[in-house]
Amino acid sequence: MQEKLSKLSTPAYVIDEKRLCENLRILHEVEAESGAKVLLAQKAYSVYQTYPLVAEYISGATASGLYEAKLAYEELPGVRTGDKENHVFEPAFKDDEMAEVCRIADHVVFNSLSQLEHHRSIWEKSGVSVGLRVNPELSTQDGHEIYDPCASGSRLGIRACDMPEKLPSGVEGLHFHTLCEQLYEPLEATFKAFEQKFGKYLHDIKWLNMGGGHHITKEGYDRKALIELVKKIREKYDIEVYLEPGEAIALDAGYLVTTVMDIVETEKYPVLILDTSAACHMPDVLEMPYRPPLRDSGEAGEKAFTYRLSSRTCLAGDVIGDYSFDHEISIGDRLVFEDMAIYSMVKNNTFNGMALPDIALLHENGDTEVIKHFGYEDFKMRL
Ligand SMILES: Cc1ncc(COP(=O)(O)O)c(C=O)c1O
Repeated sequence: MQEKLSKLSTPAYVIDEKRLCENLRILHEVEAESGAKVLLAQKAYSVYQTYPLVAEYISGATASGLYEAKLAYEELPGVRTGDKENHVFEPAFKDDEMAEVCRIADHVVFNSLSQLEHHRSIWEKSGVSVGLRVNPELSTQDGHEIYDPCASGSRLGIRACDMPEKLPSGVEGLHFHTLCEQLYEPLEATFKAFEQKFGKYLHDIKWLNMGGGHHITKEGYDRKALIELVKKIREKYDIEVYLEPGEAIALDAGYLVTTVMDIVETEKYPVLILDTSAACHMPDVLEMPYRPPLRDSGEAGEKAFTYRLSSRTCLAGDVIGDYSFDHEISIGDRLVFEDMAIYSMVKNNTFNGMALPDIALLHENGDTEVIKHFGYEDFKMRL
């Protein structure tokens, strides 16, 4: 594989189809054994050229608004025919988009009672199944308030104290999304809190969507317990259960291949100037923040040669992290960041006029195929 990656022009995101299929197979098993329906959250991963693979294993997709919903409608096999599902949640839907959303989606989730009523005349006659997002008000994440929809003052989801005694007419589902990169136990705790606060509605709905943030395909995730929980909910309340992971679909299924362009000596570590950028090509590194895994490397000081990995943008803080290697790094060397399929190309940007990385597929037979190349026009077109 290393040899194939070394032939790509850089920077390039590479989707590893074998790894993607391994994840999808696990998610398919969860569907088969629990009866849950699993949806791809496109906000994390939208390489639509692989949607035919996705459609082989799971029940559909979910969208953050009209554009993602349209992408699934156009590219996920089975959505147009109704064999696969197309869900959408948005904190507020635009008036001039609502009719189209209801035409191409089959499940629409509103974030407030006012949005529900504001758009009632459109959704009511469209035939979509409508749900409400609620807030179980149980924070289970440490330190990442920016990713915590249950943080104090959150706008995401209706609190129990703001819900009416009975569900408004036409509401068929409830939705919560509270987790981020979490194992099973926080889901169990969240469901308990949800059931305590919103249980009285569960006999009046057809479906419950438990959102994303479930690291189902990560080693150590207690999938047996998840399967049992879903089965229990389905049996107790006679409802359909949805899970809409994004990360779990393409976890560890992509790379960002980059080339060392220069090496700058500093009073600390020598700095590698790469042809990729945290700010432009992996914004979560700065936003979350986190340290992306890098093939054949260690923590600073762990191996013989330590470097600071940075970029050719003007932002002083555009630093990916400090990494060590067994051998000295030279200009022209290739480095491979791992776990780069998710929240990477869906969030990238052309700050400083940086070119966007190519997108390539690493097919199961080991061949690579560049499916997207971006140039100056892509930068100019957005301005
Ligand atoms: C409503 C909703 N569903 C699903 C997801 C997907 O989450 P993840 O990619 O962490 O699984 C998100 C992520 O923010 C979300 O906001």
